Order: sequence, then C-alpha cells, then structure tokens
Amino acid sequence: MAEEMRLDRYLAEMKQGTRSQTGALIRQGRVLVDGTVCREAKKKIRPGVTRVSLDGSEIAWARWEYFMLNKPQGVVSATSDAHAVTVTQLIGGALRKDLFPVGRLDIDTEGLLLLTNDGALAHALLSPRRHVDKVYFARVAGTMHEGIGRRFEEGMSLPDGTRLLPASLQILRRSAQEKEPICEALVTVREGKFHQIKRMFEAGGGRVVYLKRLSMGPLTLDETLGPGEYRPLTEEEIRLLKEHTK
Ligand code: URA
Repeated sequence: MAEEMRLDRYLAEMKQGTRSQTGALIRQGRVLVDGTVCREAKKKIRPGVTRVSLDGSEIAWARWEYFMLNKPQGVVSATSDAHAVTVTQLIGGALRKDLFPVGRLDIDTEGLLLLTNDGALAHALLSPRRHVDKVYFARVAGTMHEGIGRRFEEGMSLPDGTRLLPASLQILRRSAQEKEPICEALVTVREGKFHQIKRMFEAGGGRVVYLKRLSMGPLTLDETLGPGEYRPLTEEEIRLLKEHTK
C-alpha cells in the first residue's frame, strides 16, 4: 500500500511552494483531492494513488526523478547560487523540488551531468571506493611532456602532493598548425578530485582549453542533447546505473 503523506507536504515536494504557501493554497479552496475541494492542510493522501489538483491542473506525483543534462558552460553545478545560473534551474520539467547534481563539473566544463533526488544512487556513484569510470574529451594546448600517458596510467602525484588513481589517456588528434601545439584526447578517470583533469594535464606541461564529460559508468551523454538541454533517463539507464553501483 502506498505510504500516506500530508497534503501540504505533497504539494511542497511537487514544487508548488513552501509548506506554509501550500497550506495557504489549500485553505483558499484551490486544491481538489480526488475531485473534491479539500481545505485541510494536514489531510493524509496516498501519493501516486490519490489525485490532487491545484487551480484545475493535476499535480502529478514522482518519488524519484533522474535527468541527464548536457551542462553548458557558464552554469554552476549547484542547487542554488547568489549570482550564477545553476544546473537545477535548467531542469524546468522536473516535478520535484529536491533534485541535485551528482558531483560537480567546473563552470567552464560541458557535458554529462546526472541530476536526481536519489541520494543513495548519488552516493554510490561518487564513492571513491566504487571507482566509477568517467570519460572526458579534452582539448589541450601546449607542449606536453614525453610519457605523460604513462604517468596517467601509473597514477600520478600532483604538485600539491595529491595522489591520483591510475587514469588513461588516448590521444585522438595532434595539430601543429596553430600558434602552439593543440591536442585532443579522451581521458578516463575513476575519481572526481577538484579540477582533476586540468591539474593532471598541467602537471604534464599542457593547458586544458576545452573539457566535456562524455560518460559516467554505464551512462553516456546523449549526443542529440545540445548544451543546456536535458532529458529523463530511460528505465534501462536507471537499471544499468543501479546495477553498476551494487
Ligand atoms: N576535471 C576538471 O578539471 N574539471 C571538471 O569539471 C571535471 C574534471
């Protein structure tokens, strides 16, 4: 049997305002429960079973939500920020108010970001012990040291002493035409330390000028999503992610 929940809380979880605001909406007679006006904020309903509407529009229930966002540059990986647009603000189609980004991408990094309210899954995906592979496309300027790939593979130490787990580097393209050498590469890391990829290349003589995350464990960025676009995960993607973190 579906668990019961107070009506004012249901409306608050489904983004209709704070608890006091949803309580006021209910007392104003704007909320129907199974087709009948209900003015009692503490009325117990059964999410997913009881039909709830506000001002004539159905307020659908979702316990868990999972979205893949192609994060654009200039947006911060946070739920709120005093100055900048946040990734959660981009998910206009979310039903719930409690989505958060699973990990962080730098403000100038693009690509795959998972947003959910599933704390257990997020924790498992981010746990350093689980070693979930993250693949990035990087464009790097400068002359990189010989043997940088081997250093990545051995697990390098950054200048501040941070020890990194083994990573892999696959050079896709080198170009010498520009003012300075540019190389494009795929990098796979199993952890998510602060500015990790940028610092890894910097330690090897390069400077990351563009960075995009392509995948996280079994989840791959849907390339039909332009920067700033998002879509819900499919049932299969959710299943694969859960299986991967078991
Ligand atoms: N590594 C970085 O340097 N930046 C990111 O945003 C992600 C990984």
